[in-house]
Amino acid sequence: MLIRSFDDYTRAYEHSVNNPSDFWNTVASGFSWKKPWSQTLEWNFETPDVKWFIDGKLNITENCIDRHLPAKKNDIAFYFEPNDPKGQARSISYQQLHDDVCRLANTLKKLGVTKGDRVCIYMPMIPEAVFAMLACARIGAVHSVVFAGFSASSLAGRIQDCDCKVVLTTDGAFRGAKDISIKSVVDEALEVCSSVTNVLVYKHTGTAVNMSAGRDLWWQDEVPQAAASCPAETMDSEDLLFILYTSGSTGKPKGVVHTCGGYMVYTCYTFQNVFQYNAGDLFWCTADVGWITGHSYITYGPLLAGASTVLFEGVPTYPDAGRFWQVIDKYKVTHFYTAPTAIRALEAAGLDFVTPYKLDSLRVLGSVGEPINEEAWQWYHKNIGKEKCPIVDTWWQTETGGMLISPIAGITPLKPSYATLPLPGVQPILVDEKGNEIVGNNVEGNLCIKFPWPSIIRTTYGDHERCRQTYFATYKGLYFTGDGCKRDENGYYRITGRVDDVINVSGHRIGTAEVESAINMHADVVESAVVGYPHDIKGQGIYAYVIAPSTAKDHEALKKEIIAEVNKIIGPIAKPDKIQIVSGLPKTRSGKIMRRILRKVAEGDTSNLGDTSTLLDPSVVDEIVRGKQ
Ligand code: PRX
Repeated sequence: MLIRSFDDYTRAYEHSVNNPSDFWNTVASGFSWKKPWSQTLEWNFETPDVKWFIDGKLNITENCIDRHLPAKKNDIAFYFEPNDPKGQARSISYQQLHDDVCRLANTLKKLGVTKGDRVCIYMPMIPEAVFAMLACARIGAVHSVVFAGFSASSLAGRIQDCDCKVVLTTDGAFRGAKDISIKSVVDEALEVCSSVTNVLVYKHTGTAVNMSAGRDLWWQDEVPQAAASCPAETMDSEDLLFILYTSGSTGKPKGVVHTCGGYMVYTCYTFQNVFQYNAGDLFWCTADVGWITGHSYITYGPLLAGASTVLFEGVPTYPDAGRFWQVIDKYKVTHFYTAPTAIRALEAAGLDFVTPYKLDSLRVLGSVGEPINEEAWQWYHKNIGKEKCPIVDTWWQTETGGMLISPIAGITPLKPSYATLPLPGVQPILVDEKGNEIVGNNVEGNLCIKFPWPSIIRTTYGDHERCRQTYFATYKGLYFTGDGCKRDENGYYRITGRVDDVINVSGHRIGTAEVESAINMHADVVESAVVGYPHDIKGQGIYAYVIAPSTAKDHEALKKEIIAEVNKIIGPIAKPDKIQIVSGLPKTRSGKIMRRILRKVAEGDTSNLGDTSTLLDPSVVDEIVRGKQ
């Protein structure tokens, strides 16, 4: 079933469209099922309701671990590279992974966690974070990983939304030159979370922490004592595997739900085919397990494929901007998967940080998370790939579970900044504002998908209607991605960016409404409007227009306080890059903010602001243009 030529790709694609059930039956039969499925697929995009591999029973961890033990128990699952290059590196074999996951799974059971319970994981990038995900999956608990850069209030919101029973965390985290307190964030969050009965704390940095008696336990006291084997819970294909919160155009982040069977089949299939990973290769994805890329292509996809990977705790610029390249040489990484924002930042640091390293082990490069501009693509291709490594520009989303549009490494002819062609099973369509299909090539429109693939979002946790509204109601009968897209003369796809009120900052999805609501919490803020603007390194930056009363204090001090407020409420990733204090916002007579105008000003394009005659007070536009940051 592996694709090894462009003909194979074409055949697989046609098969997947003409007979999806037959195609996916064959792919799924390569896994270990406790009981086979009785029907491959049942779906409608109206309610929506999608089920794959119906009645099938499995446990994803048996497929990630146990299945590989007979042949490769001593093979390395993870090479752990710590933040500090002189720190303690670790290698974890598949057998060790099995034992560590089982011990933790048994500890969770002892804490009363049972099938279906939610467990929050708030941890830095250390092997224990992966053990934590798999330990949950082993016993049928649903993990909700929260990126360990989110604030206490964001963490609390996520814990409350799905009523987590246990939190897995660490004392602290090393990130570059910084020592970050993790446990104290959890403590603050838990002041408002009544569902949590226990916190298991892995001692990682040795920083002093408060342990709440009866609630908090040290990982190192509990886990090593537990048995190193744990039966894998029998899960239905459609039982929940995990919840991962992500931002949208409105409201609070929503809990995207993925289920066991389809997610397993799709992440493994796409990992093996897109990267063309073979036994003996070494894969490194630089994402954090707090994002979907970490879920699908650090934890699940590679382990399902029995791969060896690097797990990196640090940041690309510590101790200097050569760190990625040093790690590639150290471990002889063959496949390297990162985000355009990192590529641009390392390009800006200069070639002096690249040339000391050979990088001759590399065979495949990948990009994910945001559009890669042609210049960054060429730099990556020339200086890192030495013009011999294909770059797979993989387009996908938290909601899609796995990559949907992407080249197949070494097989799909590349075109810089294009995600190229849909993977087998993926049926993209472009539509206009009214939902009419835009046919033919050399066209542009809103990207939708018209047929389910196995790892499509099943629901948004606790609020199915929100899932319907967000993804399936804009265009009848279609999954709407929120992205704009071009299709060139050869049918290649190029993602142009979000068409909704979501901004993509350094590959992180941020909802403008969320940032506005954090800014509005400041006592001196009357109202705010947030838009994205082009940023050389981050892809997009955050531009906030803020109305403050005329009595408000010194504006520079106010701006600093606003940034602190956003840090506190969401986390540093959402902090505005630019803040402009204004006396009013451009609103229509019905009170709607005309974001089009604000976006244009933030982009620095004030030559043609379009029709402003419908504004309640057109003079605010002049003031906004004059005060541009
Ligand atoms: O706008 C697209 C952009 O990232 C969004 C999804 O963000 P998230 O759910 O956080 O998942 C990121 C990692 C899969 C998309 O709607 N995006 C992701 N990959 C690409 C991309 N934009 C252009 N090219 C890509 N390769």
